[in-house]
Amino acid sequence: MNLPQLGILASGSGSNFAVLAREIAQGSLSAHISVMITNNPDAYAYQRAMDLKIPAVIINHREFASREAFDTQVTQTLNAYQVEWVIMAGWMRRATEVLLQAFPQHIVNIHPSLLPSFPGIKAVEQALAYGVKITGCTVHLVTLEVDQGPILLQAAVPVLAEDTPETLHARIQVEEHRILPEALRILLQPNEQRVKKVY
Ligand code: GRF
Repeated sequence: MNLPQLGILASGSGSNFAVLAREIAQGSLSAHISVMITNNPDAYAYQRAMDLKIPAVIINHREFASREAFDTQVTQTLNAYQVEWVIMAGWMRRATEVLLQAFPQHIVNIHPSLLPSFPGIKAVEQALAYGVKITGCTVHLVTLEVDQGPILLQAAVPVLAEDTPETLHARIQVEEHRILPEALRILLQPNEQRVKKVY
């Protein structure tokens, strides 16, 4: 069977990456992670990739003169590993046309708010500061506008009076770890009808 080839982009802890790897290993997600790329040499995601024996590449954005030059290197690496779907799992870089044109409609992002509310960085802090009583997370396709692509799945998370950014983010991540694999199960199925099911 030809499994969909995933490339994971992660800048931080990589818990969403680890969940995808676990679901694939358990057989509940039919896919293969070809490579994990991080822009952050200190990312724990890199250590996770080592532990999971998944190929991992560090591409430090600080070594590139422009976002496009950085994305060109990321794209070349994804292509070298024959990636078909790009999963941004805590990827703290804006996608440029370079990456978008290389993987049209094939880049997925997970964001810790109910988009279109609170796009961009510090989404959990934004939600707390605004005082919303319900927030959550969103899996969406990536477009040039940050956090504005077509929504695939969302999950709601109540905000508690005593929440800090850390406690709220921890509960949002429980939902992220549920809906990211779920969105991929729908998106990756080899059925032309799948698109109608998700957006
Ligand atoms: C997640 O909250 C995700 O929504 C955001 O960055 C965080 C990454 O978490 N984009 P992890 O690295 O997968 O643990």
